[in-house]
This record gives sequence, C-alpha cells and structure tokens, in this order.
Amino acid sequence: MKVIIKKTKEEIGEEIAKEILKDIKENDHLILGLATGSTPLPLYKSLITQSKEEEVSFKNIKTFNLDEYCGLDATNDQSYRYFMNENLFKYLDFEPNSHHFPSTENCSKYDDLIEEAGGIDIQILGIGENGHIAFNEPNTSLDSKTHITSLTQNTIKNNSRFFANVEDVPTKAITMGLSTILKARKIYLIATGKNKAEAIKTMLEGKYIPSCPASALNLKENDVYIYLDEDAATLLKE
Ligand code: F6R
Repeated sequence: MKVIIKKTKEEIGEEIAKEILKDIKENDHLILGLATGSTPLPLYKSLITQSKEEEVSFKNIKTFNLDEYCGLDATNDQSYRYFMNENLFKYLDFEPNSHHFPSTENCSKYDDLIEEAGGIDIQILGIGENGHIAFNEPNTSLDSKTHITSLTQNTIKNNSRFFANVEDVPTKAITMGLSTILKARKIYLIATGKNKAEAIKTMLEGKYIPSCPASALNLKENDVYIYLDEDAATLLKE
C-alpha cells in the first residue's frame, strides 16, 4: 500500500487521471470500477479534460460501478447511474452498453459479470466517515460478494445532503462486497476533507479491523494507492 498526500483534491484528480490514461494507452480494453459521491468528482473532471487533450478513446472500455440505491432507477436524478451519466459518461465516447451497475435483478450475478468481462483492472474508491468502502458498512464480512445491504444512520445522514429530505434517502443499497473489491488488480482510494481523517487513521494502522471496512485493503499487498489531501491526513504521524 502506498500513501500519497497532496495539497488539494484537484491535484489528486489530475494525478490519478494521468495514471489511468497512461494505462488505457497501453490497453484500450481496460475494465474500470467506479465510485460515486463528492470525492471522485475532481478525478472525473480531469479524466474528461485530459482525455480530450490527449485524444484518448474510451470506446472499448467497460465500467462496473460499486453500488446503487435500491428502488431508484436511471431516470431518478439521485440514482448513481444518473450521477455517472451527468459527471462522466456523457462527456466521453463510451459505447452505450458498456456501463454496469449492481441491481436487485443482477445482484447474485454481478461478480460473475465482472469475472466474465475479465476482472476489474482499476478500481476507484472513496471512503465513508465510518470507514465504509462502497456500501460495505462496518463489520461486513470479508468474504462478501455483491449483496443488498442496509445503510447505517451515519451514511443516511451524510448522503441526505444530496436529497431534499433525510426521509428521501433510500435505506437499502446494492453494493459490491469486500471480496469483490479486493480482486481488482489496482486500487485507488481517495479521501479528502477533515471528516475522513479518523477513518483514514484507523485504516492506516496496517491491519484489518472489521469495524473499518477500508482496512481490508491492508490484506492486498500490491497496487493499492491511497491518495489523501492534507485535511484527510491530519491525524497521521510522520
Ligand atoms: C459511492 C461509494 C461510497 C462513497 C463514500 C464517500 O459509490 O462507494 O462508499 O465513496 O460514501 O462519499 P463522498 O465521496 O460523497 O464523501
């Protein structure tokens, strides 16, 4: 695991976008695992600008998103499919059927779909204040595959900033499991903001702590990159 601290979230986005485009230039059939939320937005912005500048095509790239709320379809502006269309997909030359999202219908097959596509080459992750990755809330099993989960009150409260009322936030979601995520060949976890500092400190203790699902990344030896801004790194020692 490599920890990289940058001054701003924009610098993080630029650097990871550069790395992803470098990999796409070597293999234009990459499989990307994608996250939603505020954290990856600067990365998606940089991916759009840099790929236009460097004329990199996404025509053969397939994507698998980490999670989706139960009960919100693609036309709902709070669904993660809608979010991805608005913030990334519509700006690039992806083929229309190249995007995958977990759903109540494909839940039991989602891991197989990923395997059949060749496995995830690059996985982007954010982290919840409670240490969740995707919607694997504290104490989710390490063996978990894509599954339906109940969101914690902390997650519902945090995500309510995107909804008109806290009551509108779905209480259930479909999420890749921890074992699904750990299979990705390369992982970039991004954390920005002081509210992530505690979870980052716990995760970087170097061992797997079930109450902090992100710490499962300690079990993967190579190709895990943790990008932090200075706020998210405030509780780390030298
Ligand atoms: C979203 C996801 C979540 C978020 C996490 C942080 O697809 O997987 O685990 O990454 O909740 O959310 P933000 O980035 O909004 O702070």
